[in-house]
Amino acid sequence: MPTTPEPPARGSLTLVRHPLVQHKLTLLRDKNTPTKIFKELVDEIAMLMAYEATSDLTLEPTVVETPLERTTGQRVAGKKLTLVPILRAGLGMVEGILKLVPSARVGHIGLYRDHKTLEPVDYYFKVPADAAEREFLLLDPMLATGGSAVAAIDALKRAGALRIRFLCLVAAPSGVQRVHQAHPDVPVISASLDRELNASGYILPGLGDAGDRLFGTR
Ligand code: PRP
Ligand code: URA
Repeated sequence: MPTTPEPPARGSLTLVRHPLVQHKLTLLRDKNTPTKIFKELVDEIAMLMAYEATSDLTLEPTVVETPLERTTGQRVAGKKLTLVPILRAGLGMVEGILKLVPSARVGHIGLYRDHKTLEPVDYYFKVPADAAEREFLLLDPMLATGGSAVAAIDALKRAGALRIRFLCLVAAPSGVQRVHQAHPDVPVISASLDRELNASGYILPGLGDAGDRLFGTR
């Protein structure tokens, strides 16, 4: 019989407080951290957070032959995991998670935030066809106004997705609230809940523009 843990509560926010995650997040916030190290840190934090984000995957028993005898172990059952980075910055989280779950599929959602209105503008969408059969981990380091996350979740649901989790590194209270209001069934997992947004929609204290720092475009 598969073992299915309790589903997360509606409107849930999980903060990953593991010391290694918090240590690396502080290095990531540092304005003097260069692009190469920034990229490595995002990769490492995403991998550590994926451990938390997959902690309630369903297991099923499976028989295995050890060198000494036959025994029953456990393996991940059922729904196939699909990673969906929100371009661009979400791309930085993919490889770290794939190290833990190499068989996961990867979809892509292209969105950018209009600098004036702060509203998301979409330019790309591609996920596996059997969306209803899959477990989605939506990836973006930053959850600021929540506009991009809500638009990405809307698009995933239109494609048929039924099980989605949102994994980010830094969240603002207003972003978490917007996601919970629009999509209470989507748990949010973050390494930090920061104080607020500034007038330009940047998270404070935050880490700056994640895409620019990852790809060295500023
Ligand atoms: C950033 C970030 C999120 C979005 C968050 O992307 O990676 O996608 O902003 O802001 P929101 O919660 O207010 O929508 P950006 O629009 O800068 O695009 P980029 O990754 O291509 O630089
Ligand atoms: N997007 C970012 O990259 N950083 C922020 O602080 C807010 C949105």
